Amino acid sequence: MQFSIKALSPETAKSGCVVLGVYANKELSPPAARVDRASRGALRNALVDLPVKAGGTLLLRGLPGAAAERVLLVGLGEREEFAEGPFRDAVRGAAAALRELGAKDAALYLVDLKVGARPVAWNVRHAVLGLREAFYRFDQLKTQKKGNPPILEQVVFPLSKNQKIQEALSEAIATADGVALARTLGNLPANICTPAYLADEAKKIAKQFKLGIEVLEKRDMEKLGMGAMLSVARASHQPPGAKGKKPLALVGKGVTFDTGGISLKPAGEMDEMKFDMSGAASVLGTIRALAAMKAPVNVVGVIPATENMPGGAASKPGDVVTTLSGQTVEILNTDAEGRLILCDALTYAARFEPEAVIDIATLTGACVIALGHVATGLFANDERLAGDIHEAADEAWDRVWQMPLWEDYQEQLRSNFADMANIGGRPGGSITAACFLARFTRKLRWAHLDIAGTAWRSGREKGSTGRPVPLLVRFALKHSAKM
Ligand code: BES
Ligand code: MN
Ligand code: ZN
Repeated sequence: MQFSIKALSPETAKSGCVVLGVYANKELSPPAARVDRASRGALRNALVDLPVKAGGTLLLRGLPGAAAERVLLVGLGEREEFAEGPFRDAVRGAAAALRELGAKDAALYLVDLKVGARPVAWNVRHAVLGLREAFYRFDQLKTQKKGNPPILEQVVFPLSKNQKIQEALSEAIATADGVALARTLGNLPANICTPAYLADEAKKIAKQFKLGIEVLEKRDMEKLGMGAMLSVARASHQPPGAKGKKPLALVGKGVTFDTGGISLKPAGEMDEMKFDMSGAASVLGTIRALAAMKAPVNVVGVIPATENMPGGAASKPGDVVTTLSGQTVEILNTDAEGRLILCDALTYAARFEPEAVIDIATLTGACVIALGHVATGLFANDERLAGDIHEAADEAWDRVWQMPLWEDYQEQLRSNFADMANIGGRPGGSITAACFLARFTRKLRWAHLDIAGTAWRSGREKGSTGRPVPLLVRFALKHSAKM
């Protein structure tokens, strides 16, 4: 999908499809009004068939007075309620209609709409991400592909060119590529996307964009003393791997399959535990995006990658292990493995003397109960960092909600046999998981993103979302601009 910025008038644009916005009260957006005048009111006459909700569409062919083959009208919802949500719905509705239609090229007049106080660059970023999301396919494992995949080859944003808009466009395209990479890694099954596969993918990105990379094998981790990380990898026949450079550190949970280990998970929906490496995928997607847009940022990714399997060599409930930090942990539940690999990866990340560290993990089912599938859970030991992440998340519309990380919760991690237990009971399960990690990040400016509810969708539309790549890219860009 190619994107370009070109000032075009909507009535004379010779496009396969001109996409125009219309509010629920039948008020036409300015480009729609121009086409309506050129068509001598034919556009307005057709409006009775346009669904009123934001994202509803109506296709008009051969509209008199319009040079384009087709005109796609898109509902914007109530004028008074028009904001980020309806704008994104409109883009998604338009994208779905363009896909149905099999349109080869389109001119998207929606980008010129005023969305609250957002600059046009915001519209451009969200239009690119929305379109690319709708046209994403994962069919590499199907032998019978459904017909020709719909391809929208050319999309024109009818705007007058300026540097900010051009920059927003390149940022968005690179971000969309990063999101697509994260989605594909997430969607790949655990028999293909193994820890070694993740390491190879990291090597490929490093080679393509000339980035530094280091892969730690099992014996390196043994030498380092990553006892907690290795306790999770014990029963896996797949060797673990990790990747590392400097100073915003992104640490992504890379459990390529989480059976629960000896504390085995129930069978229902266990397949979805192939998505348990979504944190790792988001780190790779973000680094790929930042490298592709040649962003002046200094980012290091650390990816602890392993499977969590039962087996004769597996860790057992009650086992005590020594972490890279030297603190000991009693493993009361082998299914709380994410925090075990992350604590060693976070301790390792401190070597890069990072300015800030963010870990990203599908860490707790409890986070899904607390926040559902809308917001990512945000925890931080630094309020300014939390505020900056929150702001970036809102701009990216890849939203987060901050949860407490108070000392009061720490006592739930008490152990009779080690410095701490790896679980803190049912109450506040996502908070005690974060509190566990907090014990390994006391000397760091650190934030934790629990993406258990936002990294993938279940049910009919099962598949990876690529979240929180848009948030992380936005944050890294804003953060480096401040430094
Ligand atoms: N990967 C899971 C968390 C998860 C579960 C994410 C379901 C999305 C959907 C994690 O490793 C896990 O198993 N966590 C346990 C922790 C518990 C044993 C304290 C959980 O959430 O049940
Ligand atoms: Mn688990
Ligand atoms: Zn897990």
